[in-house]
Amino acid sequence: VTDVLDIQSHAGPYQVHFLADVMAVAEALPASDVHIIVDANVARLYAEPLARILALPSVLAVDATEGAKSLEAFPAYVRHLVERKARRDHVLVAIGGGITQDITCFLAATFARGMDWWFVPTTLLAQADSCIGSKSSVNCGEAKNILGTFTPPRRVLLSTAFLRTLDERELRSGAGEIIKAHVIEGPNHFDELAGSYARLFGEPAVMESFIRRSLAIKKGFIEEDEFDRARRNLFNYGHSFGHAIESATDYAIPHGIAVALGMDMANFVAWRLGAAGPDPYYRMHAVMKANYRGFESTPVPMERFLAAIGKDKKNSGADTVTLILPDGDGRVFRRAWPGDAGFRAACARFLDSERSK
Ligand SMILES: NC(=O)c1ccc[n+]([C@@H]2O[C@H](COP(=O)([O-])OP(=O)(O)OC[C@H]3O[C@@H](n4cnc5c(N)ncnc54)[C@H](O)[C@@H]3O)[C@@H](O)[C@H]2O)c1
Repeated sequence: VTDVLDIQSHAGPYQVHFLADVMAVAEALPASDVHIIVDANVARLYAEPLARILALPSVLAVDATEGAKSLEAFPAYVRHLVERKARRDHVLVAIGGGITQDITCFLAATFARGMDWWFVPTTLLAQADSCIGSKSSVNCGEAKNILGTFTPPRRVLLSTAFLRTLDERELRSGAGEIIKAHVIEGPNHFDELAGSYARLFGEPAVMESFIRRSLAIKKGFIEEDEFDRARRNLFNYGHSFGHAIESATDYAIPHGIAVALGMDMANFVAWRLGAAGPDPYYRMHAVMKANYRGFESTPVPMERFLAAIGKDKKNSGADTVTLILPDGDGRVFRRAWPGDAGFRAACARFLDSERSK
């Protein structure tokens, strides 16, 4: 087992370092010319092992809310950095989940026309998925993730010790992205994950091995297609449906859990529309359902869902929806489907009854 994963990006190579504990992370961070942007909950929960870092002269604590990664919140961050005399040869460090990442990555892309940034991911979603891949996504007004850049970090310091304080909902949200990566890699990889799914949350070593494997799978896609023009699109498996579910429920369902619902829905719709037989759906349903447990009957208003899926920014053309769907072998492909009555009926059947079976 190697403790460094190398990633190639348009801005040069960077590394993910796997570290044993939070103290080791603190010791590996730069101590001068650095500006820390930390999730306020993480700063509170890890005050002791992060004490040296939190005592540095430039520390900005942010609340991990969607509002905090809205363009409207950025003037305060910029003011903070200007007051602390941030310069382009300084380093920004994000310590937190995807929200802290998006704020820091967007600042790193734009402050003084670009700074280096490092990332300490503390949620499972960030550790298993978003910490590599270069994307920043910022909200503006009602439009979610509408602004963004491709700005890879210089270094990722990853310790699964942070996961101990995450609640089950956050863990299952991250597990949704782990499941996604394994489905994309192929049926054998999914089956292996399915066999270990029950141990994932109780055995840290099992969790860590699947985090490493998810990153290794994603590495192959982002190194080939960092700017998401072709093959990386497959990483949107479960996301068109998932985003529409999140939007139609006013974000009552955590992202990765909506993705698990979205993957199950993609498999069901693919079967009903004849893109695949019933096998992918039935083979994966138990794991998907275990991962979205508790959300099997959250009401998803159909009209809002359809409006949202039609508006999904990954779609082109008025009458078709672009979806990532499995074929008969359970491998996933990008396809354009007519958003017709058959499509709408399959979606309604999944949301009304199938998901709770
Ligand atoms: N840029 C990208 O590539 C990318 C990819 C996926 C998602 N995202 C974005 O990420 C956001 C979701 O991020 P997320 O799911 O990682 O979580 P998050 O940043 O929203 O944090 C979720 C909750 O967990 C808390 N938390 C964080 N670390 C903790 C820890 N170690 N122990 C206890 N609590 C902790 C936070 O304070 C917060 O309450 C969304 O805004 C999404 O759009 C970005």
